[in-house]
Amino acid sequence: MLKALVFASAAGALLAAPAAALTIDFDSDRTPADGSIAAPVVAGALEDGAAGALNERTDGALAQAMAAAEFTGEAGASLNLFGVGGYDRITLVGVGEGPLEARDLADFGGLAARGLIGAEDATILIGELPTEVGDPGAYAAYGAKLGAYRFDKYFEEEQPPIPDITIRTDDHRDARRAFESDLSHVATATAFARDLISEPGNVLYPETFVARVEEAFDGLDDVTVETLGPDEMAELDMGALLGVGQGSARPPRLLIVRYNGAGDDAPVAFVGKGVTFDTGGISLKNSSGMWRMKYDMSGAAAVVGAAHALAAREADVNAIAIAALAENMPGAGAQRPGDIVKTMSGKTVEVLNTDAEGRLLLADAVWYAQETFEPQALINLATLTGSVRVALGDDYAGLYSRHDDLAEAMIAAGEASGDEVWRMPLHPTTAEELVSQFADVKNVVEGGIGGANIGAQFVGTFVKPETRWAHLDIASTAWTEMGGPTTPPGAVGYGVRLLDAFVRNEVEGG
Ligand code: BES
Ligand code: MN
Ligand code: ZN
Repeated sequence: MLKALVFASAAGALLAAPAAALTIDFDSDRTPADGSIAAPVVAGALEDGAAGALNERTDGALAQAMAAAEFTGEAGASLNLFGVGGYDRITLVGVGEGPLEARDLADFGGLAARGLIGAEDATILIGELPTEVGDPGAYAAYGAKLGAYRFDKYFEEEQPPIPDITIRTDDHRDARRAFESDLSHVATATAFARDLISEPGNVLYPETFVARVEEAFDGLDDVTVETLGPDEMAELDMGALLGVGQGSARPPRLLIVRYNGAGDDAPVAFVGKGVTFDTGGISLKNSSGMWRMKYDMSGAAAVVGAAHALAAREADVNAIAIAALAENMPGAGAQRPGDIVKTMSGKTVEVLNTDAEGRLLLADAVWYAQETFEPQALINLATLTGSVRVALGDDYAGLYSRHDDLAEAMIAAGEASGDEVWRMPLHPTTAEELVSQFADVKNVVEGGIGGANIGAQFVGTFVKPETRWAHLDIASTAWTEMGGPTTPPGAVGYGVRLLDAFVRNEVEGG
């Protein structure tokens, strides 16, 4: 977890307290006689498994309470019962008939932990589950840690406790090892990304984003963190990235995190859009819901989060995370619609709409990534367009790639991790539409339809045809109003688990 940091803000000093976090312990498979307990309900019945044992302990009172609540125990449903059979609380979580995949086990853990919030300490029983996955307790712990996340540092009053959890399972030693040496790091990195995303724009801007990342990577082996400021960017001719930041009092940054875990192998490069607040600039956004644009740096949070997970679990990979950081503000120095900027690639861009700023940042960042690192794969994540949400709803990020093998690998990583993607098209006519009257390319197609495709195509203009590249438009998935089993409402940290799964499958070899 992050240590407490103090940040100055325009409103005065805001003291950032450490975020609430649950602790997880593992112990042998035994059903406690009292306290707060969560158990999985297999196939909707309390006959066997952990919930069956719990029902026996209550002399059938649990089954009676469950029936009275009309809880059928379908997969993904949960029920809290208080004061049944001498227990303070019993959280029943439906898991269906199985077979349960790793992500189903994590969902169980997430629902269990979320049901137990408010208890000081609690037990999650694993019991017999219909699964082929080794160490189901480790995945439940992983889900519990993800699901119990909360961003509560700015409340004056203390919030309901997040419990210290004991996972009780047969294989508790193996489960502990799998969790502590591996999965816990992915959950911690996801929480790190969520913390960055949740921070308001007055606290998190390019410089403080960099400070947080430096702090978070401090002490991890084989990691270097480097930052370019406006002068270095100007020297590299990053006119597009500089242009986005020029209306803000907070100067832009390009943050580069390198994790070297695999000798001389070509690295994978992850590039993230890090607009710490997107007002739209001179092409000002409508004020309704504009506050949410603090999450416009979710791509940057995802890539540094993924690098953190890989470094902490000591993955066998060389990985680069690049965060293109700027604040998009309307100011006296702001760029105007019609401005023409020169990118690092040499191509010029006519900025017809200053609100299509993410693609401008990425133009310079993906070029820099290719020139500097010659990656074996280049994956960029960006909250790029509102239209990807119109197209896909909030269950999938839009996936764009010219390389079918890479696209398939991303889809598989999405299914395994739960950070799902849906492939979208890069049609050649979209490139024709982006031809500008006054420069090599323009950043929007006025009156254009299929806006997510246009944004993707624009970024692709700055990617060499031979580069194995995937673009993920995560404007649909980075923030959740409803929440899910492992994602409380708010910042999802989408992409950390996806990129981690991609590296496991494609680089580390499963
Ligand atoms: N950050 C926004 C995209 C966005 C919009 C994310 C809504 C989440 C919710 C991006 O910078 C943007 O403003 N895109 C414009 C592009 C348009 C000007 C071509 C959009 O989607 O409206
Ligand atoms: Mn915008
Ligand atoms: Zn934006």
